[in-house]
Amino acid sequence: MDPAPPAPAIRLLPEEVANQIAAGEVVERPASVLKELVENSLDAGAGRIAVDVAAGGRRLIRVVDDGAGMGPDDLLLALERHATSKVASAEDLVGVASLGFRGEALPSIAAVSRLTLRSRPAWAEAGGQVRVEGGVIREVSEVGCPMGTLVEVKDLFFNTPARRKFLKSQATESGHLAAALVRLALSRPEVAFRYLVGGQALYDLPAGQDLAVRVAGLLGRQAAEDMLAVDEQQGPIALSGLAGLPSLSRAAADQVYTFVNGRFVRDRVLLHAVNQAYHGLMPSDRRPVVVLHLSLDPELVDVNVHPAKSEVRFREQ
Ligand SMILES: Nc1ncnc2c1ncn2[C@@H]1O[C@H](COP(=O)(O)OP(=O)(O)OP(=O)(O)O)[C@@H](O)[C@H]1O
Ligand SMILES: [Mg+2]
Repeated sequence: MDPAPPAPAIRLLPEEVANQIAAGEVVERPASVLKELVENSLDAGAGRIAVDVAAGGRRLIRVVDDGAGMGPDDLLLALERHATSKVASAEDLVGVASLGFRGEALPSIAAVSRLTLRSRPAWAEAGGQVRVEGGVIREVSEVGCPMGTLVEVKDLFFNTPARRKFLKSQATESGHLAAALVRLALSRPEVAFRYLVGGQALYDLPAGQDLAVRVAGLLGRQAAEDMLAVDEQQGPIALSGLAGLPSLSRAAADQVYTFVNGRFVRDRVLLHAVNQAYHGLMPSDRRPVVVLHLSLDPELVDVNVHPAKSEVRFREQ
């Protein structure tokens, strides 16, 4: 009998490789990049967010905000894995109120693209800029820039051919990008959003809109007119938003927008509850149009279920 071959030595992966692997979880497609970057802008308290995409996000995804910004030291730290300003301890994970908390998004995106990060906080006179290619820092410089942050992601998956191959057509990826933007813009009607596709403005939504006006801007005036306001408190859960008349029904649940504490979630329990509410009002193969915001004590929901955070667990589910 042949002796067993020697076991390969165990070794720590180089950081670039570890980041590429982590990127596989966070950056599924261009729309995931858009979502992560805009969530960072929202967490930074932005009042205005501009998003530019080109070629289905493969060539360009740029997010510019007027949020708190980062100082020069934080700029480099932000690109390190597990570096976050949003939680500091395990206890903080219980009841986390920010959209991000894993400290994974920026390094993951930087590992699989050519990324420029430029930022200036209010207290700094000059801004800082870092250029990264496939996770390797190429340039750190001082630049003049307005307060806030710009993240520009070019050539997504240029160094991960396997991932690139799984991208769908430009039209399909553009659809996913727009859908991600719509969810984010519905999550915060008070924040201004500008969305440009190949240089053309698709959405230009001013700040301070109420939900109905925002819904009209994103889903169309007719849809907004055929929706009724919902405002209820049930135990620890406050429910508010808009529910479509049965006549607005659709073949898919693609316009069932449910948000938990300002985060879009696709949750089985919530989807079921929505379908139940419309039971008997529309054919069983039709789905309603709803935009519903649930607010509850963050300690009652666990968002640390999946890297993309689109699933949650409710305590006492
Ligand atoms: N637009 C921005 N404005 C200000 N600070 C930002 C911005 N984007 C990122 N940062 C800073 O960089 C850090 C790292 O961002 P990153 O998205 O990688 O992690 P996170 O948001 O903390 O967690 P997650 O991985 O869950 O998104 C953030 O914690 C924040 O301090
Ligand atoms: Mg983040």
